[in-house]
Amino acid sequence: MSFIRPIPIDHEIILDETKIIMSKTDKKGIIEYANYYFIEICGYAEWELMGEPHNIIRHPDMPKVVFKLLWDRLDEGKNIHALVKNLAKDGSYYWVITNFETQYDENGNIIAYFSRRKKPPRYAIEAIIPIYKKLIELERMGGMKLSGEFLFSLLEQKGITYDDFILQILKVTQDELDYYFSDAF
Ligand SMILES: Cc1cc2nc3c(=O)[nH]c(=O)nc-3n(C[C@H](O)[C@H](O)[C@H](O)COP(=O)(O)O)c2cc1C
Repeated sequence: MSFIRPIPIDHEIILDETKIIMSKTDKKGIIEYANYYFIEICGYAEWELMGEPHNIIRHPDMPKVVFKLLWDRLDEGKNIHALVKNLAKDGSYYWVITNFETQYDENGNIIAYFSRRKKPPRYAIEAIIPIYKKLIELERMGGMKLSGEFLFSLLEQKGITYDDFILQILKVTQDELDYYFSDAF
């Protein structure tokens, strides 16, 4: 890796809910495009982001199992809404809710991913923090096997899918979430 990973600091960057953070990666998650708002919020210059893996903004408070879920979905060309805490260049953090689209070549092979991220409501952040803390704790003890088991037993107990769980936490319907990510918002 060609950059020094920032030391996280206890400072949150609050997003503008009317703006979208966008990026495009190749199928391995190497950044090929970042919009102006992404650059502004994460604090890296465009040239620092291009060609880097998307984990350049990975925050250590994020459980591994969330990214496993994310990549499992992306490998299938499916969307996933995840609450993600990201790390800015100066060590600050910012929370996002994600939305993905997959691009294919004429033979149906994945060639790129587009991600759009927006500001999540504060109550959703507060609800996910203790869950992510628990997942991280379990990963320290027994890796992703333990955190995955915990997450799936949590969903099983509630009798809902991961997608429904996210909608519950966000307190929105799927249509409302789609609208939030649409250009019409
Ligand atoms: C299009 C796209 C966007 C992504 N956006 C983020 C992001 O905003 N924050 C993040 O930590 N990881 C993001 N990821 C996931 C990273 O590629 C990576 O899996 C994650 O940061 C965990 O790092 P690790 O795989 O090295 O553990 C994204 C991946 C793709 C394909």
